Amino acid sequence: MKRDKHIQDILDFYKKATLSELINAAGLVCYENHGNDVWLRGLVEFSNYCKMDCLYCGIRHSNSKVTRYRLLPEQIISIAKKGYENGLRTFVLQSGEDSYYTTDVLCSIIEGIKAGTGNNGDDVAITLSCGIRSRKDYELLKNAGADRYLIRFETSDKELHKYLRNGITLERRLEALRDLRDFDYQTGSGFMVGLPNETEEIRINNALLCHDLELDMVGIGPFIPHQDTPLRNESGLPLEYTIRILALVRLLLPKAHIPSTTAVGTVDKLGREKALKAGANVLMPNITPQDVKGNYLLYPNKVCLHETGFSGLICLKARTALSGKTLNYGKGQALRMVEN
Ligand code: 5AD
Repeated sequence: MKRDKHIQDILDFYKKATLSELINAAGLVCYENHGNDVWLRGLVEFSNYCKMDCLYCGIRHSNSKVTRYRLLPEQIISIAKKGYENGLRTFVLQSGEDSYYTTDVLCSIIEGIKAGTGNNGDDVAITLSCGIRSRKDYELLKNAGADRYLIRFETSDKELHKYLRNGITLERRLEALRDLRDFDYQTGSGFMVGLPNETEEIRINNALLCHDLELDMVGIGPFIPHQDTPLRNESGLPLEYTIRILALVRLLLPKAHIPSTTAVGTVDKLGREKALKAGANVLMPNITPQDVKGNYLLYPNKVCLHETGFSGLICLKARTALSGKTLNYGKGQALRMVEN
């Protein structure tokens, strides 16, 4: 596909730049668009039941070793309220694809959180990350007050996608992303880096797809093999590959919100600081209750599992300062919503 000159220039730069040149360029673009702010998103992993069987994922349906849990709607609402009291203004409600939470139930959770926080719910943003649902469901959830939705496309390569997602097509994911856009969600997607059979060309196409989808949010993290999945013998790639491609995404999408993900922090102790320097501007403290958090293992050795309640915030504050940035406790809307 013929790309316009600006995009082609970025790709040419990416291909010849050293890692530090890329980090500096992406860090600068991030600073020009977002200043030194790092936005916080409180992550609530509310169910690890999943009807899907993605080959890479630790909570895939076929993994019988997982201790499954579900949080009750009132528990989820109370966690968000506590988060609000601790200063958080965005809540990401994430789960496996779990039909137990019907659209009615999810709507009541969204309404409960909005009713229990300031300004009639206007003080907080709710992000859902619970997989493919029907167009009608997305509409109802939006009307109930959901603001944002995350659904990673995982890899832009059609064949690889179908293989890794156990038969589900890339096109279906892209359709979901289009539906979400139609209902005016702030829309997030993204991909893993270092999946088996992934090439540099696929990685670049992943970044270009993020650009073409005009995403408001892009989550990128290294693939980490999980011992209880069919990909247990794969090896993943060093963090540098993720950092390079994250920097490319920042250059292609200057306005996007890009988290420094937990997966990045898992493969390298200083991974999150490195991602913040390479263009990331969001951190997601995990506020899932301590007693179940250890069961939400999409990949092994996840960081921050020992943290209780909101102690993680202190750690993130230090990490952000180390990266020369400052935590911002605001809602952190997509820039297209605040700039007109
Ligand atoms: N390693 C890294 N990231 C993973 N995810 C799922 N399994 C793994 C893994 N083994 C990511 C997927 C998913 C997100 C919630 O977590 O990209 O969309």
